[in-house]
Amino acid sequence: MATPHIAAEPGDIAPAVILPGDPKRAGRIAEMLIPDAKVVSDVRANKVYTGEIDGKPLTVMASGMGIPSAVLYANELFSHFGVQRIIRVGTAGGLARNVKVGDVVIATGAHTDSAINVPRLPGLHFSAIASFNLVAAAAAAAEAKAGDTPVHIAPIVSRDHFYGNADDLNVTLARYGTLAVEMEAAGLYGVAAEHGRQALAVLTVSDHLLDHSGDMSPEDRETRFGLALDLAVAAALS
Ligand code: HPA
Repeated sequence: MATPHIAAEPGDIAPAVILPGDPKRAGRIAEMLIPDAKVVSDVRANKVYTGEIDGKPLTVMASGMGIPSAVLYANELFSHFGVQRIIRVGTAGGLARNVKVGDVVIATGAHTDSAINVPRLPGLHFSAIASFNLVAAAAAAAEAKAGDTPVHIAPIVSRDHFYGNADDLNVTLARYGTLAVEMEAAGLYGVAAEHGRQALAVLTVSDHLLDHSGDMSPEDRETRFGLALDLAVAAALS
């Protein structure tokens, strides 16, 4: 049965989903990975693509921006479509000095200022962590594929605000080993835990909050987004 935001039947969606933020990027990823993919849903300009890679089914769709949007889609994918694992691919802002623009971050966990996970465990602070098997699969793929590109395996922070976050908290987060900031992973990890399913975010650092000097060249951008996607796909199909 279709859900309010995904007009597909349960069999139309693969057990593994690659989830970029942007619907246009989802289209480009699908074209690259699964050129004969079927569009199984197209609600609110968010096309959902399903096909096979080496005989293994894979779905690609977008999360939209921010935790509420990512959580809404993840909820429908887990609860109505039997999805087993969701791997977010996206960009993040670098926070720590040892992370440079173009690096890839496999997000083991995500601090957040969002209240989305607060009601989950009354009296406790929920730990938004990635699924270890997916972290291990992405890390193994990085060993084989990263070449000269640094791949970090570390916590990140998922924030509700893109603008106006205090610099001093960024410095503290970096001191706590938090390498990058984005806007979805903590919510995704929470929904995966709720449903007993798996989740991971693999991020390319697209800019740096403390050091604005190192913009990526267009060439770097493609190679390094490509690397994050390779790691995400390896985790998805592992
Ligand atoms: N915050 C700051 N910088 C960023 C983000 C973010 O969420 N994503 C990519 N660069």
